[in-house]
Amino acid sequence: MHTLKIRTDGKIVTAMKQSLLFISLLSVIFPAIVNGSGVTAPPAIRRILQGMFLSGLVLLMTLALSTWLLSRFSPVGWLKIRKKLILFTRMFLRSEEDGFLRYYVWWLYGVVSGRIKVILYPNGLEKDTADIARRLSEYLGVSLLKYEEADMRAICIFGCPPERFDGLQKMKEGITEWTGRSYAPIPIYGSVVWDFVSEAIHILLTAPSGAGKTCFLEYLGGMVWNRGHKLYVIDAKNSDFGMIFRQIGVPVATTIGEIIQMLTELVEEMEKLYYSVFYTCDSVVTDFRKKKMPLHCLIFDEILSVLSYADKEDKKEIERLLEQLALKGRAAGFAIIITAQKLNATDLPKAITEQCQTRIILGKLVSEETFHQATLVYKKDIGSVYRGDVGKGYAVTPKTGGLTYIETPLLPQNMEECAEVLKELRDRGDSYGEGR
Ligand SMILES: Nc1ncnc2c1ncn2[C@@H]1O[C@H](COP(=O)(O)OP(=O)(O)OP(=O)(O)O)[C@@H](O)[C@H]1O
Ligand SMILES: [Mg+2]
Repeated sequence: MHTLKIRTDGKIVTAMKQSLLFISLLSVIFPAIVNGSGVTAPPAIRRILQGMFLSGLVLLMTLALSTWLLSRFSPVGWLKIRKKLILFTRMFLRSEEDGFLRYYVWWLYGVVSGRIKVILYPNGLEKDTADIARRLSEYLGVSLLKYEEADMRAICIFGCPPERFDGLQKMKEGITEWTGRSYAPIPIYGSVVWDFVSEAIHILLTAPSGAGKTCFLEYLGGMVWNRGHKLYVIDAKNSDFGMIFRQIGVPVATTIGEIIQMLTELVEEMEKLYYSVFYTCDSVVTDFRKKKMPLHCLIFDEILSVLSYADKEDKKEIERLLEQLALKGRAAGFAIIITAQKLNATDLPKAITEQCQTRIILGKLVSEETFHQATLVYKKDIGSVYRGDVGKGYAVTPKTGGLTYIETPLLPQNMEECAEVLKELRDRGDSYGEGR
């Protein structure tokens, strides 16, 4: 990373540049005029004039070269960014004078694999750094991929948005040669992944109707199988989604009774594993991967629709069981993926939501309240125009830190194609019956 402190007036630098230009021009022109006038000067003076001419020429060329290198047309990526940051700062940012002192912002910036990372230290001169990030993105003409406010600074990453993944292709990866259970993180978009062997194990997915929850769940379900782990589905809407998974042998619960039974069995299994395998007299293993145990992944689609029609006792029981999974699931490898169409502060117990460290929001029409509950960030702090749409939105994971724009992996419109791949995953190698 390079550091750039910007004086927003730049008068001294400009004056120095002008003086150097004047000196170099004088050094070139004066000897040329003397030479051209036909005056025969003594050899010593001629040598001085010649030296003056040459050094003036070198200075002029050096000036021209450095001006080009430091300009916004520079062939060196980071120098080009440097100049653009200087111009942007002068055009858009405030500076304050305090007697002889002048306060100014400063930047840290760098170009890594085609992406521009810029950290702005506003030094109390600018309040709305999200707005600055948005305007800088427009000025540089590159998309703002990530914006994060941290202590006294704002971190922005600019670049071309990554290509959307082909979901089916990802699900098919390694399908023919079964090399054993894998704990590799599941790719979502660009560098955003679901790392189920970390504190990011539980997912909270929020999106209004038709924004792509079910498609994304299908992808995640397929990838859980691709990695050779176990899958359970709660589909209270009894939709095609549940039907496809049921047809290929995944346990699917739809009624309140089935849901409570599935959750109870999962909690019992988790407790059993936790105390018999992970928690022994001499050690506590907090990573199910070390014991080569499978992940037990529960997909709970449309949780709020279940909680809204369950009676009080059932609702309490479902919440209690989910809380157990959320709180203790990480060590024994029990993941929950919960989806909801909207989210108010009181919709779900905090004990559940706070454990969901992978948070994803999709969709165009998302209220401020839902956005904040889902991501813990305000929409206005995105740092660019809100770009949520069908299959498009934002993710927060412990690795990404701040909010990162994502597009969910593309799946074919024909669900049968997905079902075929899921069947292949089910039937491949010796993993059948073990990984699910
Ligand atoms: N990843 C994707 N790949 C391809 N198409 C998608 C994707 N995500 C969403 N879509 C399109 O959007 C439509 C709605 O998506 P989906 O059914 O997943 O939304 P939903 O949030 O589950 O809606 P609902 O709340 O009604 O269940 C799909 O039928 C599909 O056409
Ligand atoms: Mg759905």
